[in-house]
Amino acid sequence: MSSLNHVLSDFVQYLENERDAGRGMVEVPVEVLNELGVMPKKATVPVSKEAVKIASLHRQVNHEHLPGTTGLEEIKASIAACKKCSLHKSRTNVVPGQGSVSPEIMFVGEAPGADEDLQGLAFVGRAGQLLTKMIEAMGYKREEVFIGNILKCRPPDNRPPMPDEMEVCLPFLKAQIAVIKPKVIIALGSTAVKGLLNLTTGITKLRGKWLSFEGIDLMPTYHPAYLLRNPPAKKEVWDDLQEVLRHLGRTPPPVKKR
Ligand code: URA
Repeated sequence: MSSLNHVLSDFVQYLENERDAGRGMVEVPVEVLNELGVMPKKATVPVSKEAVKIASLHRQVNHEHLPGTTGLEEIKASIAACKKCSLHKSRTNVVPGQGSVSPEIMFVGEAPGADEDLQGLAFVGRAGQLLTKMIEAMGYKREEVFIGNILKCRPPDNRPPMPDEMEVCLPFLKAQIAVIKPKVIIALGSTAVKGLLNLTTGITKLRGKWLSFEGIDLMPTYHPAYLLRNPPAKKEVWDDLQEVLRHLGRTPPPVKKR
């Protein structure tokens, strides 16, 4: 049997079980819609919040065809096709973000810099190397978390993102979060907090205190680029990361001797 047939027969079985159990309505998981490759023409069942968000993202980037393609690859394709702000003119590559598709932790930074623009990967420059150390100090490998940014294209001269750029780019990040559903988001710096929560309070005040993004626990902390300029602040970031580990029921691995 093909994998689609498997999905279909599992799905039919599930519907029959639910019907036999007396339920008139069921939630259709996004993965099932994704596997089936089609959105129902008429929603006779409540389609999950994520599917609606992602379909609307596809609409925003003017895809002619709106199949039930709801995974990270489809979001990536939408990002690659995006010309909603002027940053598309100067980019070498889009930087959608990368990592595990079902991570405990998602890190959100500001925007790609020169190295990221060249490689199409988030956090691969100097700040990225420090982020890797932070991730490993927590006991994860880089591939076990997801790393993304508020903006998917590099602003010229690494200037901070403009409000209109953030507004048009945010649906991509929100769609990624809806798909990967991290247990915790770590917002790196004030732009990440502003983008996700529309909070303009400075990061110094916010860091280390739990916030929430659409029901997902969010820990604000300093951006690694700030730590490169101000190494003593690493201590506070380490406190924040340890709080995240406690929250996830993990203990940090012993610090390696140099
Ligand atoms: N700074 C960011 O905020 N993101 C990157 O991807 C690289 C540097």
